[in-house]
Formats: sequence, structure tokens, C-alpha cells
Amino acid sequence: MKKISTYQEYQDIYQKSIEHPELFWAEIAESFTWTKKWDKVLDWEFATPDVKWFVGGKLNITENCIDRHIETKGDQVALIWEPNDEKEPVKSYTYRQLLTQVSKFANVLKKMGVQKGDRVCIYLPMIPELAFATLACARIGAVHSIIFAGFSASSIRDRVEDAQAKFIITSDGMFRGSKNLNLKSIVDEAIADIAAVAHVLVINRTHEEIAWNKERDLKFDDLVKDVDDFCEAETMDSEDILFILYTSGSTGKPKGVVHTCGGYMVYAAYTFLQVFQYETGEIHWCTADIGWVTGHSYILYGPLANGATTLMFEGIPTYPDVDRFWKVCEKHRVNIFYTAPTAIRSLMAYGEEPVNRFDLSSIKKLGSVGEPINEEAYHWFDTHVGKGKCPIVDTWWQTETGGILITTLAGVTESKPSYAGYPMPGVKPCLVSPEGQPIEGNDKEGYLCIEFPWPSILRSTYGDHERCRINYFSTYPNRYFTGDGVYRDEIGRYRIIGRVDDVINVSGHRFGTAEIENAIGEDEAVIESAVVGFPHDIKGQGIYAFVILEPHHQANEETKKSIIQTITRVIGPIAKPDKLQFVPGLPKTRSGKIMRRILRKIAEGDTSNLGDISTLIDPSIVEIIKEDAKKIN
Ligand code: WT7
Repeated sequence: MKKISTYQEYQDIYQKSIEHPELFWAEIAESFTWTKKWDKVLDWEFATPDVKWFVGGKLNITENCIDRHIETKGDQVALIWEPNDEKEPVKSYTYRQLLTQVSKFANVLKKMGVQKGDRVCIYLPMIPELAFATLACARIGAVHSIIFAGFSASSIRDRVEDAQAKFIITSDGMFRGSKNLNLKSIVDEAIADIAAVAHVLVINRTHEEIAWNKERDLKFDDLVKDVDDFCEAETMDSEDILFILYTSGSTGKPKGVVHTCGGYMVYAAYTFLQVFQYETGEIHWCTADIGWVTGHSYILYGPLANGATTLMFEGIPTYPDVDRFWKVCEKHRVNIFYTAPTAIRSLMAYGEEPVNRFDLSSIKKLGSVGEPINEEAYHWFDTHVGKGKCPIVDTWWQTETGGILITTLAGVTESKPSYAGYPMPGVKPCLVSPEGQPIEGNDKEGYLCIEFPWPSILRSTYGDHERCRINYFSTYPNRYFTGDGVYRDEIGRYRIIGRVDDVINVSGHRFGTAEIENAIGEDEAVIESAVVGFPHDIKGQGIYAFVILEPHHQANEETKKSIIQTITRVIGPIAKPDKLQFVPGLPKTRSGKIMRRILRKIAEGDTSNLGDISTLIDPSIVEIIKEDAKKIN
């Protein structure tokens, strides 16, 4: 793969990629190792949808991420691991060592009975074994479904059941800042009633006491003792499933986004190289958790497919001190630093002194992902972390897109604060009006759709293809609908405005308002609730819950606490509302629909003009909610 090096070249390549997408992607795919070359580059239609890339091709993504680098980079470090506790030693693995670790792990999985096509849920902290486990699944053709280790037992249960997983990989516990969480007990609770789970593989991390089910639980340390240190890579079809990753939408339970082997590999690798302009020897640090798609694509697959050195960090930005990110950058001489606006904003609050304690001269490129980056955070990042000399890429994409779709290319195309930038080659964005009218031309605002497949577009939602069609391909026929609103400026740059559906983005984590409402509804004190997002200084958006209580329950702190506990139990601590207001009723129309527009305004604290409320059954309720909201903080 050749790097794009000028704006002119970007424009030429973009043009070519749109005119001849198959030729364009075939040329890129040529640079990978295929067991058998594809027969056809692309087969697609968005009606079903049915998208296939590199049709008939055979490959294994781990051969591309590991084996093929051994000859030239066998002794180069592939993975650096920085522990939560800085006193614990750093671990690092060369490509050769990575092959051994992944092979051994793959052989453990085989010994446990995992076969090609089986789904394996992984619930682990950010330890090297998380990387090995993920790649080991890919090595033997098992489908990994990683569950972020902040989700509750009940969320795990939903995902394990939906994926019909027979195997789970977890650890005794995890270290996170000063906390020590017992993951195994959460898994035990999650799968207590799921007979289909044959085995739980347990990795030792915290060495604490854990409950043990003799028939079901297996110790990784026992199984790994006598396995071979090489595992042949399973030959996979381009369109075999590589992984499932659950994400929230505007309706119902989280859905399992399906990505397949060939297209995902090509796109993750291509975008990593182009966006970050990776140069041999550079150290890349993406601060995401591998439990999110960002970690899948830009800690693991993208960097490794390029033979890069990738860093994974177990801890949090504020432990043991608020300077930890900068300390790690100095310690490992990080060259590319890719993080989230929410992290920048939270660290900004401590001023620049903690940043200035360290030598950040190694940093050459900066990246942002997950939510719009506001100008203040952008400038702080630029000035204090990048010292005014590093390009910043603001990368827009989604779990469903598998890789970055709209961005600038570091140092190649010019960035502008709060603008994601330009479409990647091969990506054809289009704007539509809410009614579906295409909006041509520049200096326009609209709903963002994509009108041609790129290699890592989601293929399905696991177990329910119809849901995939309805969610992404039916609102605007023949287009993939992103759910985001966007502005295209005079020269064709994109500025992402935010979600236009009932999805809220809290610190770069996605929640459906319905999902949180369902969780609140599980509390016995609650009759009904409505959840909306509101602007939050650090998190981007905060969660605001309006709750109607059962008559005999008191609207007090205790009830509030119990409801928050229920949400933590059902989804996880990451979904805790920032504000919770008890209300006597909700603003509903005669057809029973909650007028969220009004609640959003109230949550924003902007009640000067609530618009027409005459269609409400009981307009007086608005006044009460509005007045009570002033007392909520
Ligand atoms: C939603 C996708 C894959 C990235 C991690 C989050 C928002 C993401 C940006 C950005 C503005 C962004 C969008 C998108 N988003 N990146 N650079 N600028 N908004 O993945 O959980 O699938 O969420 O995050 O609203 O639709 P996700």
C-alpha cells in the first residue's frame, strides 16, 4: 500500500476510487496475503442488504497481522502493554513472540472445544491476554464478541444469549485505577441460567479468590501448560464472520454488528496507514478499550496489519495521578496519540501543568474519535499536547462502519477545528433531508448517508438480518443511513453535528434512550420514564431521566439511589444518569407519544420557547416539569 502524500494526490485518488471502486480496492487488497485470490471484487445491493467484498477470496487475518511480518520484522515490537499500576513491569511482545502467544492461546481454545464458526464472548480487562484471545479466535476461525468490562451481568447475559455463545473468556478480576473488580463473579451471575455455555476460560490477573464451577470453568494456566507453540491458521472465506460487536441503537436491545474477514481487514489496515500516515518504527497509542470498535480497528487489527508497534494501556487517565497519559507518552516515546474528546476535556480541567511535567517531543500526530471535538478542546490538545506542531485528525466513524470514513489525513489534508474533514477514498457520503430528498452541493446541512459500500460496512446484525435492513437501509432506500446530522461546507468538508435519532453519546459511548428507559422501568418504584441527552461539559452529552413513580413510593434521595442501582445492574455503571427528576407525568400527545423535543429543551435549561404544546393531552404538565427542573442539579 502506498501512502497518499499531498492534498492533490488525495483528490486524484478519491476521484479514481469513486469512478472505479472495484479497481481501486482490488489494488489495495493485492498487498495482503490471500490463501486464494478473490473471484470478484464486489457484489452488492442495499435493499436486502447483501454486500460481499473479495468474493471467493480465502485468507486468515492473523496471518496478515502477524505471520507475514515475521521475516522482516520478527524482532520488532508488535505490542507494548502498560499496566494499571506503574510499579508493575511493562510487557512487550515482538512479532515473533506475538505469534507464539496467539498460537498458544489458539491451541488452548481448541483444547477447550472451540471450533470454527463458534462464537466466543470475551470479557477481559486491558491485559495482553485480551489481545491474544481476540487474535486467537480469529486464528482458528471462531467469531469473537468482546464485551467491554464495564457492562453488568445482565448486559453480558443478553449478549451471550443473542450470540448463542458456548464459550466465555474472562479473568478472576481487573485493576482499574485504585479499584479492583471481580469479573468472574459478574460472569457467573450473567450465565447462571444459560445452559448453552459449555466453558468459561479464566485468566489470572488479580489472584483473588473466586467461585469455581468444576464442570464448566477452566484455568488458562492449566490448559496452556502442554500446548504446542504454533497453531496453523484456519483458512477463512472473505465473507466469513470475523467478529460481532454489540452496540446501542434507537430501538430495543443492543444489536450485534457483524463484520467479516476480508473487507474488514483491508479497510482497517488501509485507513490506519493513510489517516495516521504511519511510518515504520513509530509507536502508536490508541487510548480506547479493545471492548469498543476503536480498539478492535486501531489498537489491534489496523496497526498489526501494517506491522506497526501498538500500545495498550490497562489503566485510566487519572491514576495514580492526572498526568498518567503524558507520563506514558514520555515513557514509551509515543509518536501517534489517538484519544477521545471526553478524555481531553476531563484532563484540560487540571490545566497544562501536568502536561508540561513531561517531554512530549516524540509525539508527531494526534487523533480524536468518538464524538464531535469542540474548539476549546481542539486548541488545548493542539497547543499543550501537540505543542502546535502536530496535525490533528478528527476521525468520524461508527461501530457499523468498521473503520474511519470521514477525516483528514495527518499532515496531508488540512484540519479545521470541529470538522471531521473529507471522505476517505472509496467513501461516498450524501446528504438527505429528513424526508429523504437528496441535498446536492456545498454549504448545506442534512442527514448523513453513504451511497456506496466500502469494504468494512456492516454485513448484518447477528441473528436478525431484517433488523439490519430496517435500522440502516430502509429509512432512505439504497443508502446506508448513519443516524448523524452533518454540515458540508463550501469546499466539501464535513462537520458532524450529532445524532438525529434517539441515541445519545456519553463520553463517546452510545446509548439508546429506550435502552436506558427499559432499565429504569425494571425498578419496582417506577411507572414510566423518558430519557434525553443534554450538553455536558466533559462527557459531551449527559443522561437526563424524567421518572414517574408508583403512587406509594417517595420522591426522595433513597428512591433515586435505588433507581440508579437498577440501571447499574441492568446496563452497567457507564449508563448512570447525570440528572434524575421525578415528574407527575410526561408530556404526551393524544396518540401517546412522548414529546421529547420539550424534554430536551428542559434538560438543556432552555425553556424560553418550547414551541407548540397544544397537541399535548395535558399541557399543564410542562409547566410543572419546567419549574421542578430548576431544582435539579
Ligand atoms: C457515533 C458512533 C467508532 C468511533 C467510536 C464511537 C459519533 C464518532 C465522531 C467524530 C463527531 C463522532 C457519531 C457516530 N462520532 N466519531 N469524530 N465526530 N461524532 O463509535 O459507539 O459506534 O458511535 O459516534 O455520532 O454516529 P460508536
